[in-house]
Amino acid sequence: MNKTLTTLYQNLDTENIDSNFQFILFGGTGDLAHNKIIPAFYNLVARDILTNKYTIIATGRRYKNKNEYLAALYKSLKNKKKKIDSKHWKKLASHLEYFQLSFKNEADFKKLENHLVQKDKTEKISERIFYLATAPKFFAEIAKKLDKFNLLNAGFKTNNSKLVIEKPFGHDFKSAQKLNNTLSKIFSEKNIFRIDHYLGKEMIQNIMVIRLSNPIFRALWNKEHIDNIQIYLNESEGVKDRGKYYDDTGVIKDMFQNHILQILSLITMEEPENLSAAEISQKKVEVFKELADNDLSNIDEHIVRGQYSSNIIENKNSKKSIKAYREEKEIDPNSKTATFMALKLFLNNQRWQDVPIYLKSGKRLNKKEAAIAIEFKDDFHAAYTEDQKLSSNILLIKIQPEEGVSLRFNTRKPASNNKIVPVEMEFCQSCQQFFNSPENYEGLIYDMIAGDKTLFTSWEEVSYSWKFIDKIQKKCQEQKIKLHSYPAQTGGPKAADKLLEADNRIWQDKK
Ligand SMILES: NC(=O)c1ccc[n+]([C@@H]2O[C@H](COP(=O)([O-])OP(=O)(O)OC[C@H]3O[C@@H](n4cnc5c(N)ncnc54)[C@H](OP(=O)(O)O)[C@@H]3O)[C@@H](O)[C@H]2O)c1
Repeated sequence: MNKTLTTLYQNLDTENIDSNFQFILFGGTGDLAHNKIIPAFYNLVARDILTNKYTIIATGRRYKNKNEYLAALYKSLKNKKKKIDSKHWKKLASHLEYFQLSFKNEADFKKLENHLVQKDKTEKISERIFYLATAPKFFAEIAKKLDKFNLLNAGFKTNNSKLVIEKPFGHDFKSAQKLNNTLSKIFSEKNIFRIDHYLGKEMIQNIMVIRLSNPIFRALWNKEHIDNIQIYLNESEGVKDRGKYYDDTGVIKDMFQNHILQILSLITMEEPENLSAAEISQKKVEVFKELADNDLSNIDEHIVRGQYSSNIIENKNSKKSIKAYREEKEIDPNSKTATFMALKLFLNNQRWQDVPIYLKSGKRLNKKEAAIAIEFKDDFHAAYTEDQKLSSNILLIKIQPEEGVSLRFNTRKPASNNKIVPVEMEFCQSCQQFFNSPENYEGLIYDMIAGDKTLFTSWEEVSYSWKFIDKIQKKCQEQKIKLHSYPAQTGGPKAADKLLEADNRIWQDKK
């Protein structure tokens, strides 16, 4: 079991996990468990990666017994997958247990402890993984109860239990620090796995490979050759039924503090000396520290905040009205929460000085698209630019929905008098026949069992990213940064386009 996700993906053949682990899933009846965690386990079973020893103990209140729970899980899995293989499902179901438990009821934790000890006697458990797939307000409370009721050590000589914690980790630096102080009294940092599910995405894991295993990019990955960097995570959906959570969070905490800054750190960090989780994390931390040191005094010129308004989308045969953010379920009708943000920033280091980095994310935009665009400097031979304007070289790393890479370069138009036209060289990973990209959670679960923390965020990364986000929030308040309105299902506020036009550039998703 020494293979990590990287090797797993390079070779989609079986790499067995043969440790006898207990996976205790708090929030086992919730949306995340139904739609991500259990389907990921199903896939691991289908790919024959899990052997016969493990147990998943899902906790929740809403189902009375295992049969009810399995029936509900099966229904969710059926909605998600076109086809369920009954052989794989039966195998997974035989490893699943349901334990009715309320976070508020201490007796339930005591019962769980007895249950774990009993199981350990018969099954010789090698390790426990406690997964908190619950609302963040319960994170500290559950961890304290795990400690109080001896659930980490129950039946074990040494405590080697892991804690997996969903996002968001705090809602600002102070709350994140408080939560971390609580957790670190119970679990060592080595055993705390903070999830940022974007890190499990195929193309995010590909960033370092593209950067470091291709000399043509490696040699050019600096201010001498790169004109600007763009990262955009555009969503077409609204807040759905997460209104209450989103209105407190907004795009800045929902997308920037975690996913966008994580991507930014992988793109801009210095080269790690090796591929250990600790080394990579250290390099990322250097980026987060620099961000947190940014003085942001002219943020008013570098930021655009927006919130979607209602819109009517007319197609040939239909007319669809889309609600404004403030009309959505559980949203304050006077809400000032930003559902869109664009930000221009710089990193003041030797590699990136004066290279603008443009970040953007929003809800209810006209298309779902997440990508990273690296635009190279227009360093053309003068002979070719005397009578024509050439396009710059652009490396586009496509994260979703399409996964792949494209490279724009210039070529001679056939049968022309040296007229030059841009062409795109495309690698579409997700279009490849027989390639079925593993789901984010599949790899993340594999790695947490294997103990590889590369795809999880360290406390240092989280703490500096919060410091940076807190600073932006504070500056926005002090400088009363405007909240632009943009019609739902469009390209976002016009001001975001002007942010780049002022620099004679355009967003690569708008070209
Ligand atoms: N859903 C997603 O796609 C998604 C994506 C990324 C991150 N996340 C994060 O994952 C976490 C879980 O989200 P979710 O969408 O799964 O939430 P959810 O659907 O509301 O599920 C909450 C879970 O917590 C349990 N629970 C709530 N109060 C409880 C109590 N007092 N005692 C015992 N169990 C209790 C619920 O069980 P019962 O109702 O059965 O008691 C349920 O299993 C959150 O931190 C969220 O931010 C979710």
